[in-house]
Amino acid sequence: MTNVNKNPHEALFNPLSLGPLTLPNRVVMAPLTRARASQPGDVPNAMNATYYAQRASTGLIISEATQVTPEGKGYAFTPGIHSQEQIAGWREVTDAVHAAGGRIQLQLWHVGRISHPDLQPGNVLPVAPSAIKPEGSKVFVSAESGMVDIPEPRALKAEEIPGIVEQFRQGAENAKAAGFDGVQIHAANGYLIDQFQKSGSNHRTDEYGGSVENRLRFTRMIIEAVKQVWPADQISIRISPTGSFNSIHDEDPIETFSALARIVEEAGLGYLEVVEDSFQGNHENGRPEAVIDAIRAAYTGIYMGNGNYTAEEAAQRIAAGRCDLVSFGRPIIANPDLVERFQRNAPLNEWDQSTFYGGAEEGYTGYPTLAESQ
Ligand code: PHB
Repeated sequence: MTNVNKNPHEALFNPLSLGPLTLPNRVVMAPLTRARASQPGDVPNAMNATYYAQRASTGLIISEATQVTPEGKGYAFTPGIHSQEQIAGWREVTDAVHAAGGRIQLQLWHVGRISHPDLQPGNVLPVAPSAIKPEGSKVFVSAESGMVDIPEPRALKAEEIPGIVEQFRQGAENAKAAGFDGVQIHAANGYLIDQFQKSGSNHRTDEYGGSVENRLRFTRMIIEAVKQVWPADQISIRISPTGSFNSIHDEDPIETFSALARIVEEAGLGYLEVVEDSFQGNHENGRPEAVIDAIRAAYTGIYMGNGNYTAEEAAQRIAAGRCDLVSFGRPIIANPDLVERFQRNAPLNEWDQSTFYGGAEEGYTGYPTLAESQ
């Protein structure tokens, strides 16, 4: 007999141990660019602290992508973690989240070629593994200029690469000073690390290009560097094996990303987050199950799925052992109390795409909870 009182999303509410943390549920706030840092200086502020604290009932919050260096910036108004002011701003955020009972990791980001001289110190060209222009991609440079085309980047010299690895290490150290519970390495969505990983954007002929091992060398170096600062189980990594956002492509995602999964397994990281298709979901053909299978064959740790999940699908896939955690993007933007709504099987607020990037409280801290809408 079926139990009529059973919550249809029950599998979402089993706690999970993650290193020193106990996540009270499996509903994770995905990393989300909102472009609302204070200027000048790309500094997190009190409004950002309110926004994150409103979402503290999620099992875990992953911060918006945060540049580890001024050269790693690709959009106006995104926050950094390379100045004392930014560390102090993030400290306000982590304090607010912890006071509200939550847990938060910082996402470490370098955009590589997804930038523009107008956003770069000295107005120089953005850097990338190879001088290949991301055809058709645009970035937001300023309120005046809006979205602009991306130029062909400058290929990094091999001797410059350890310096960028060091910027990730320093970012990880700064995240610790800012009171985070851990860090996530952003290796997804066509940004610098992904540009190295994927064959379409990496045509290097040195030890950072060519074979899968060489294309993953930069990722491996960053994992090792961040492990100098954080215990492995407080580090995670986000990948998007089949994503094409930011004009990215890999000729053999199964081979490339099962090799990456083995690196993550050996490194003992806390969890692996997989964007199971394109940025903002593109599921006409379903999830890339063969790639997921290959990753899960190589990696036995905590697996976080991402991409256009509903509560139903998340609960089903967790119950089936297909993933352990699910991160939600657009639903958590519009529903600060997403966990309670899933628990009560209550309707969700709809998101307003026009307020995703930039602006103030509207479409940010202003979405009502269930209690507020009654
Ligand atoms: C964006 O700002 O559009 C953005 C940032 C990071 C991502 C994806 C999209 O991973």
